[in-house]
Amino acid sequence: MIIQPKTRGFICITSHPEGCAKNVQNQIDYIKSKSPIDGAKNVLVIGASTGFGLASRITSAFGENAATIGVFFEKPPAEGRTASSGWYNTAAFEEQAHKAGLYAKSINGDAFSNEIKEQTAQLIKKDLGKIDLVIYSLASPVRTHPETGVRYKSTLKPIGNTYTNKTVDFHTGEVKEISIEACTEEDIVNTVTVMGGEDWQLWIDKLKKEGLLADNFKTVAYSYIGPKLTEPVYRKGTIGKAKDHLEATAFNITDGLKDIKGKAFVSVNKALVTQSSSAIPVIPLYISLLYKVMKEKNLQEGCIEQIYRLFKERLYLDEIPVDSEGRIRIDDLEMRDDIQEKVAQLWKEATTESLSEIGDLEGYKDEFFNLFGFNFDGIDYEKDTNEMVSIPGLQ
Ligand code: NAI
Ligand code: NA
Repeated sequence: MIIQPKTRGFICITSHPEGCAKNVQNQIDYIKSKSPIDGAKNVLVIGASTGFGLASRITSAFGENAATIGVFFEKPPAEGRTASSGWYNTAAFEEQAHKAGLYAKSINGDAFSNEIKEQTAQLIKKDLGKIDLVIYSLASPVRTHPETGVRYKSTLKPIGNTYTNKTVDFHTGEVKEISIEACTEEDIVNTVTVMGGEDWQLWIDKLKKEGLLADNFKTVAYSYIGPKLTEPVYRKGTIGKAKDHLEATAFNITDGLKDIKGKAFVSVNKALVTQSSSAIPVIPLYISLLYKVMKEKNLQEGCIEQIYRLFKERLYLDEIPVDSEGRIRIDDLEMRDDIQEKVAQLWKEATTESLSEIGDLEGYKDEFFNLFGFNFDGIDYEKDTNEMVSIPGLQ
């Protein structure tokens, strides 16, 4: 079929298999151009199909020659209907990994469920024996609790007061004010239940109980802090409470891994265009200004550059550098004073008229469509392409 982008609200509901393959290939090429990492040999990535998780899987495989198992929740293709982009990304990743002689298998299902944890544990037991790194990179708006069956929904709301600020509809370029009403107590509980650390802990407990974690095992989950500007809706909002919980969970997990000298870390990453961040109000405007400033200073990074730096310059050093709260920081460039001061100044000036000049709206849009395999040079989007792509190592 001929596949063109089709957007609904903030998301794109089609994706292009060859474009997704190109996106993956670009990331593989980047990793191959860098010096190798002496790190993990067997890696499980939970949330492995897009964004930071995909970059983590690519870095593990092509940067350290690791065997990888990826867990994700993606829509397979049907005749006349495209798969979700994470499906095509994974198909392309596995094809390249297998060509390079690397073990790569995948599990598509709800990572929050006991069944998927069990299936993953069995696969590790059968094929790999033990694993030495688990990357936890889930971003989900909902979680069905495995014990109670209750379905929780996360929200992106401020706590205490209504928050009013500018935002951009990046599809139209319109900058306007939005007001987000303060959350309820229940919103906080729900968001922490979905995006906090409970499920990460359950994963590690399960794998530990089954004897599947190697000595000196490491696990990393991803967090975000960001500037004052977005604090009410991010770090001091409902999602921030979930991130606080995730960060606290790292210490609990480490406590339970003493006998194998295992350690859990949270890495604070940079703001980037992903399917998840596009859905957060205010953040797209911040990102489009941030990109402009970081590109001007030659400091811009995408997911793959971030994760390579995490592995190469943080995770596998003898002494892992952390902040006063014990977190790994790869948001150091985003948070630099000169960058933040410039973004804060541009923020005041941002209007529908000025944004295309002072912000990187084009860059934002381009990256957004790239997530779904669109806007890549060298791909003929008028040409018929086969949507029925399968993932070679899908279990
Ligand atoms: P993403 O939307 O690109 O990736 C989410 C992944 O989770 C996908 O692989 C998806 O298939 C998987 N997933 C979602 N629900 C699932 C379920 N029920 N079962 C199995 N897999 C499921 O998101 P992104 O942005 O890469 O986020 C990953 C982590 O990084 C999140 O914790 C996010 O808060 C964090 N982060 C994101 C930043 C950003 O600017 N995008 C900045 C800093 C941290
Ligand atoms: Na991810």
